[in-house]
Amino acid sequence: MKDNFGRDITYLRVSVTKRCNLNCVYCGKTVCEKKESELSPEEIEKLVSAFAKCGITKVRLTGGEPLVRNDICDILGRIRRIDGIRTLALTTNGVHLSRYAKDLKQAGLDSVNISLDSTDGSTYRHMTGADVLKKVLEGIEEAQRAGLSPIKINAVLMKGINSDGAGDLIELARENEIDVRFIELMPFSDEGENASLLVTGDEILRRYPFLEPVVSEEGFARYYASAGFRGRVGLIEPISHKFCSSCNRVRLLSDGKVRPCLGYETVYDLMPFIDDESRLIREAREIILRKPAGHSFENKNAAHGLNRTGG
Ligand code: 5AD
Repeated sequence: MKDNFGRDITYLRVSVTKRCNLNCVYCGKTVCEKKESELSPEEIEKLVSAFAKCGITKVRLTGGEPLVRNDICDILGRIRRIDGIRTLALTTNGVHLSRYAKDLKQAGLDSVNISLDSTDGSTYRHMTGADVLKKVLEGIEEAQRAGLSPIKINAVLMKGINSDGAGDLIELARENEIDVRFIELMPFSDEGENASLLVTGDEILRRYPFLEPVVSEEGFARYYASAGFRGRVGLIEPISHKFCSSCNRVRLLSDGKVRPCLGYETVYDLMPFIDDESRLIREAREIILRKPAGHSFENKNAAHGLNRTGG
């Protein structure tokens, strides 16, 4: 269905947990939260079903880190069986992916995005707090082997921290049938240091002039490649090229609240209606209608809490 600004809202991101097994520098959190307020697989199924009735056709599971939930395959299976859901995706840091890839595929997962900010072991450890680069690289291989497709890598570049390693990440797109997407750093702390750390999409293009545009209508990313590339390089530029006017998504949080825009803290709680299907559908419709026109990262630290919403 269309929201009040004429945007067709077809994409629901579902954060299944706030918990995470990494502690990334740009995430803005330090504690791992407890699981007591997490939705059950049944509750997730009810909520996603209501959104499917409002025209949602694509669901992406996020976290925290979704693979820290040991019932993740149950959740995937339930969503897979909901009428109207055509695409089922998941975003993971990849740490547990080698173990789960086959089961995820079997449970109905189509595609996977893997967060990987550096292919250098010590930089990776510095950014995530964990010495697990090897596990993540194994996870990427296992995802390919399991037939998950497409596979995309998400990287956030930060000046002076991992930005020198961008070329090595780009090489992954040359050698594999994988898209490597650079996401511009969104505000994550109150310290106002964001601007000095930000690497824009245009800066990446200047630094790697061999990248040439590839025509693509998918999502928000601008895509690039070069002769001999098996995959593509994508630029996701929420700061330098705002894409709010074509935003098609809303977010369901791990406690049953819905956040219509990443740029605002505003949430709507659906849990009071969890056992009333028609009320849930009505509330979901209202939330979609009320989705704000756009984010305001430039004015405040509005993206605070990315860790809880799964980006
Ligand atoms: N800025 C940009 N991207 C971020 N992500 C998490 N925090 C930020 C941030 N502050 C990305 C992660 C992950 C995706 C879900 O969101 O890299 O790939």
